[in-house]
Order: sequence, then structure tokens, then C-alpha cells
Amino acid sequence: MKITVVGAGGNVGATVALSIAQRDFAKQVVCIDLERKDGEKTFYPSKGRALDQWQTSPIHLFDTHLVGGTDYEMTKDSDICVITAGVPRRPGMSRDDLLSINANVVKSVTKQLVEQSPNTIIIVVSNPLDIMTYVAYKASGLPANKVMGMAGILDTARYRAFLAEELEVSPKDIQALILGGHGDTMVPLPRYTTVSGIPVTQLIKKDKLDAIIQRAKVGGGELVGLMGTSAWYAPGAAAAQMAEAIALDQNRIFPCASYLTGQFGLDDIYVGVPVKLGKEGIKEIIEIELTPEEKALLDNSANAVRTGLNDLERIMSEA
Ligand code: LAC
Repeated sequence: MKITVVGAGGNVGATVALSIAQRDFAKQVVCIDLERKDGEKTFYPSKGRALDQWQTSPIHLFDTHLVGGTDYEMTKDSDICVITAGVPRRPGMSRDDLLSINANVVKSVTKQLVEQSPNTIIIVVSNPLDIMTYVAYKASGLPANKVMGMAGILDTARYRAFLAEELEVSPKDIQALILGGHGDTMVPLPRYTTVSGIPVTQLIKKDKLDAIIQRAKVGGGELVGLMGTSAWYAPGAAAAQMAEAIALDQNRIFPCASYLTGQFGLDDIYVGVPVKLGKEGIKEIIEIELTPEEKALLDNSANAVRTGLNDLERIMSEA
């Protein structure tokens, strides 16, 4: 099992790589990123980080060999590729700027990956997530079951962690589902949230649950506010969990950004829905029943993603 992480010189990519290694299911993790010039000096962040991480193997007790570099030839015959490349939004940068910069990065990275590994499975982590996953799908030429986005595991992890704190129970016992795009319109589903099988609505007052749902929806923004940059520990761990489910053919059920072709009444779009993950990637999209209110929230979230896709198309046609 060979896994490539692109953007591994950055915090999210480096955390994906180390989380995969610590789970010890892969033979090799290849960490790709650009070199960085500083005056006369050239640095190789993904090479340095991979070396540093590999040197934790005798301490963490894993066999997964981490190597880093800038050359896509190193990624040849990867079973899974995780794309975390792209820029974060900086002051003065419009949403359109971010969209077009990251779309070009994701497109070019995807093409280079597929050239080396024509049968790979791609997990996209770059933002805006649902749109970047769509871009990777179109650029890859791969079937849709092999291209997916990581957001739902992260968003439900935040929701579950907040619930565990509030209820004073183990986060391990909280099961939850969030649908929709990775943004403020995401749709946490209280009806599908349980604590060891007990519906959460029996354990918490509605106003408390509503406050937790609201906090989970803007969970990424809360961290940007605290750290001045976006999160990496939970995003990295979440992407590693997807890679593990695929590598070990676990048939795990997770919310992932998936290409829809009519499911949930949505077509030609990536949004978060429950899927079964295993060795072919997305083995099945699980079309759960939604109330009219839940469906309206999902439609609203899908519309937000659709607006982003339309904006991207406009920007690209003007460029
Ligand atoms: C977040 C970013 C990584 O939600 O999307 O923290």
C-alpha cells in the first residue's frame, strides 16, 4: 500500500502523512510539496517533514516509511493520493481569487498524480472542499467512486467532541451524521445522532443541542479565530481515517463529499452524504430518508456549493 500526500510541507498535509504512518497500515507514504526559496537558500519542507516524521517510527512504533520530495515520479503507482495543496485565504484576497488559485493548483496536481498512478483513488482536502473535489474529479478522468472529498468526518468529529463535553460521556460512544457542503450551510442531523444507540434528543435540551450544532457548523472558523490560520490536527486525522478504510477494505460508513447522480434529488455535484468506504473507494452512497425540513436544509447547502461551481466556471471563462 503506497499513499501519496500532496501539500505535505504544510500543516494539514504533514498531519495527514503522520496520522497515516501512526495507523501503520501502509508500506510507504510519499510526501510531495513545492520547494521554497528564501533569498539564496532553497528549502524542501515536505522532504524535511517526512524525514523528521520517519525518525519518530522507533518511538511511535510504526513501519510505514515516510519519504518526501518535489518530484511526482516518486508517487508512481500510488494506491491512494491525498490532495491538501492550495493556499489559505489571505487578507485582501477575494473568494474568487481563492477559488481560481486553488482550482488551478488542484487541477494541475491531479493531472500529475494520475499520470503516475492511473488507477489511484483520490481524497481531496483542499478548500473550498466540495468545489475542489469536483475540479479533481473532472481533471482526473477517474470514475466518480475513486474521487472523494474529506469534510464530513471532520465536521462530525467536531460535533461529537462538543456533544461529549456537554453530556460528559466518551466521544467514542457518540455516533453522528452531517450532510451537505463543508461550509456554514452544512446539515448536522439530530435525528441520526445517538449516544450508544440512545437518541441524543433524549439526553440534551433542544436549545443546548441547537447551540452545539451551530458551533459545529462554524467549527473551522472558530479555529481560524484562535490560531490565525486553519486547523490541521482534526482535518489530518480525518483524511487518514478515510485512507485506512480504503486501504483495509473496511466498509466503513462515513459522511464524505461524493459525486451525486440523482441521489437525494441532486445531480452533477459533490456534497457530503453517507457512503460505504472500501477498496474501490466509494462502494455505495447510502440514501437515507430525510424529512422535508432536512431535505430543504440539504438543498440549501447544495445550492451554496452550486453557486461556488458557477462562480468558478465564470472566473475560468473570463480568464
Ligand atoms: C476546517 C478546514 C480545514 O474546517 O476546512 O478546519
